[in-house]
Amino acid sequence: MTVEYLPSNQKRGKFMRYDTAVILKRYFLCERALVTGQAGWLSGVPYFDIKMSLPKMLWEDAMTAHELRNRVYELRFPSRMLEIGDDQALVDLIHQSHNAPNPLAFILGLSRVFKPALKQAYVDYLEMADLLGDGPTHRFLELAIKEKDVQIQTLEKLVSPYLEKNDPPSIEVALQWVKQLQDKLNQIGGIGIENCKGGEVNLSDKVFSPYEVPNRDKRFIPVRFYWPDIVDKSFPYGEGVKLQLRSAISHLNEIWAVENAGFILHEFAKDLGWDFIYDAARWVYDESRHCTMGYERLKQWGFEENELPLGTYIYDSCKGKDPIYRLGMLFYFESKNIGKKPERIKSFAEFNDQVSQHDMDFDWADETIHTAYGKRWLSAILEKRGLDPKDYQKIQAECDRLVDEVIHSATEEEIQQITSITENMIEKAKHIVAAYERV
Ligand SMILES: [Fe+2]
Ligand SMILES: [Fe+2]
Repeated sequence: MTVEYLPSNQKRGKFMRYDTAVILKRYFLCERALVTGQAGWLSGVPYFDIKMSLPKMLWEDAMTAHELRNRVYELRFPSRMLEIGDDQALVDLIHQSHNAPNPLAFILGLSRVFKPALKQAYVDYLEMADLLGDGPTHRFLELAIKEKDVQIQTLEKLVSPYLEKNDPPSIEVALQWVKQLQDKLNQIGGIGIENCKGGEVNLSDKVFSPYEVPNRDKRFIPVRFYWPDIVDKSFPYGEGVKLQLRSAISHLNEIWAVENAGFILHEFAKDLGWDFIYDAARWVYDESRHCTMGYERLKQWGFEENELPLGTYIYDSCKGKDPIYRLGMLFYFESKNIGKKPERIKSFAEFNDQVSQHDMDFDWADETIHTAYGKRWLSAILEKRGLDPKDYQKIQAECDRLVDEVIHSATEEEIQQITSITENMIEKAKHIVAAYERV
């Protein structure tokens, strides 16, 4: 007797549980490699607007990666393996793309090769994946597609003036690099939903490391010390207008924290693993929000970029040192004034400056999270090195010493320069206040 069967719905049955886990694992590996690259390049990208946009993108990518990773674990339960396996060539290609010959090349590699490829892969995946069996994946990949779309458009919009202004040879080098990346990606079969074809990727054999000297936007005033009180203890922190300016300049100058957080994310990604990358991505993003808060307030008051000092002294103090001190700097110097913030929030409320009050208030909430990150990850590194995890205070002492060393190297000329920049800002602020009162 012939046994009869009802027909199977081909579309819904296309991917079995294990197949989907293999594909999602590939996406996770790609996102992770993109996150570390974007973080590592933050000190190398000079353009302020792009430097302030990449952190949000890498944080979004990290959020997507986190969902992908959890989903792979669910689908492969009880296995907790995320082996690179057949995706080696793809992961190698993304890592080698970190060795871009210049910042433009790195940015264009993101906006023209990897982000569009991932976006398309997610679209293709959702077309095939079953809304019932694989429902949870639909929610976060739909969001990821939207985010990638915005990221690509934002990067292309922000990079276009630099493609016109920059010197033609570096643009040529960047475009050539992007073509190489695209050709290589096509050769190994793209990101897609099919298995990676594999093959040798030999675009670059360099090991990428972040810039130890930050690349900064030339529209701002480059200094080491961004306010006189850093190098001249007799210079008052000030009240009223001076306090508003000091606070906004402090926020703007958290640019070092953005670069530094990116640096440590890249440097400790391998040793500390995914949980660290996930926390550090948020850390980078938060610092970029703090920096942008200061920038926006200053711009809104009427200041131009060429009136604003961007300092490097804390970032400089770690040059060539063990990156554990960069983590220490971020932890220690960023949370140093946490106790004073409620007092400042009160002052801004008295000045009727709601925006400064608002920014300081949100900043305070972030810094409390960062204090926990600092303790957790400094302890984790010490433990990994066979040292006492409770000894992170010793790292702080060395951070203090390193920064003091740079402060003591301030020249008379530098002190005069920053004093005059500051006086000009205060003068301008007084004119703004007078003009405002006349209205
Ligand atoms: Fe901050
Ligand atoms: Fe912070």
